[in-house]
Amino acid sequence: LENGLGRTPPMGWNSWNHFGCNVDENLIKETADALVKFGFADAGYKYLNVDDCWEGERDENGYLTSDPITFPNGMKMLADYAHSKRLLFGIYSDAGYYTCAKRVGSLGYEKKDAEIFASWGIDYLKYDNCNNDGSLEKQRYTKMRDALIATGRPIFFSICEWGNSKPYLWGAEVGNSWRTTGDIRVAWDSILSILRRQQAITQYSRPGGWNDPDMLQVGNGQFSLDEQKSHFSLWAALKAPLLLGFDIRNPPNDTLKIVLNPEIIALNQDPLGKSVNIAQRSRFFDIWTGELSDGHVALLFNRAEIAMTITLDLKYHCKLEGEIFIRDLWERKDLGYFTKSFTAKVPKHGIKVLKIKGGTPVNINESVFLQHIEIY
Ligand code: GLA
Repeated sequence: LENGLGRTPPMGWNSWNHFGCNVDENLIKETADALVKFGFADAGYKYLNVDDCWEGERDENGYLTSDPITFPNGMKMLADYAHSKRLLFGIYSDAGYYTCAKRVGSLGYEKKDAEIFASWGIDYLKYDNCNNDGSLEKQRYTKMRDALIATGRPIFFSICEWGNSKPYLWGAEVGNSWRTTGDIRVAWDSILSILRRQQAITQYSRPGGWNDPDMLQVGNGQFSLDEQKSHFSLWAALKAPLLLGFDIRNPPNDTLKIVLNPEIIALNQDPLGKSVNIAQRSRFFDIWTGELSDGHVALLFNRAEIAMTITLDLKYHCKLEGEIFIRDLWERKDLGYFTKSFTAKVPKHGIKVLKIKGGTPVNINESVFLQHIEIY
């Protein structure tokens, strides 16, 4: 959506993955404090987003109110609090009669809801798709888009439909991002299955409108460090919104190091705004590659249950030839000059993220290219 927002993927925090419906205004204020205190905001995580379950009833004029028990001081108070810390504030609603958690939805009240959101100072709206009337997604989301635009306040519009109506085909006209898949779970197989469904649609992500493979689970559950790094790097390189979903009020050091890595964040925020594509998918590993404003990136991702030696082929994976310079973005170390190929040992469920400079583009016939990659 050309509303000036989302020129790079949005970064921030959202309450759902860790807290679900267990949210209240104190948690949101403490999270605002934590965004600043631990350096998240300085690293780019500016959106403080409340997901489902903040909603109360409609008042006698049809305007939405917040839950009187958990958000007694209203959403404007929280937006003001976020703004006073130079953060942006996001909220959630639904293009149906009820939200997914059975709170009041916006269907039929788009204008009133957009108006009240804008009057509270909302900067981001995640708009879900539960309990609707069965009419076309594009229509229902367009109504809210128009209502938001009519307020005159720039509001990032996040389409939360789960990929069924192919939102990547219509999302760019309507919103700033669109979900591509169902809800992410705190499980490795969930990350793998979402990832696998991105490979056919990477070309739809672009500045102003991003594929959204759902929010991050880094810091939640029992993921190994390698798994968390892989999840974070792949989402960053796919140009996904980077919305943290763990309890950031007491962040473990290991997790902090992952989500604050400036070079992985820079990969996500690269001004060219192009997603990586799958360049090889074997039974055991993936190679994803893509263009950056100042070079290329390659991700060697080991899906296997043991360490694997993975070789990046400059010509067939990156469509480059000549001499290239490689930097390892996790080690934050220059690896030097290479020609033709680069080989690395990658731990179980781990990843190498390589920034490539130099090389000259090579035209390879698509059928020759396809002979060299196995896509499962
Ligand atoms: C849906 C969305 C989730 C979350 C919940 C809230 O399942 O996909 O991201 O917003 O609703 O109820």
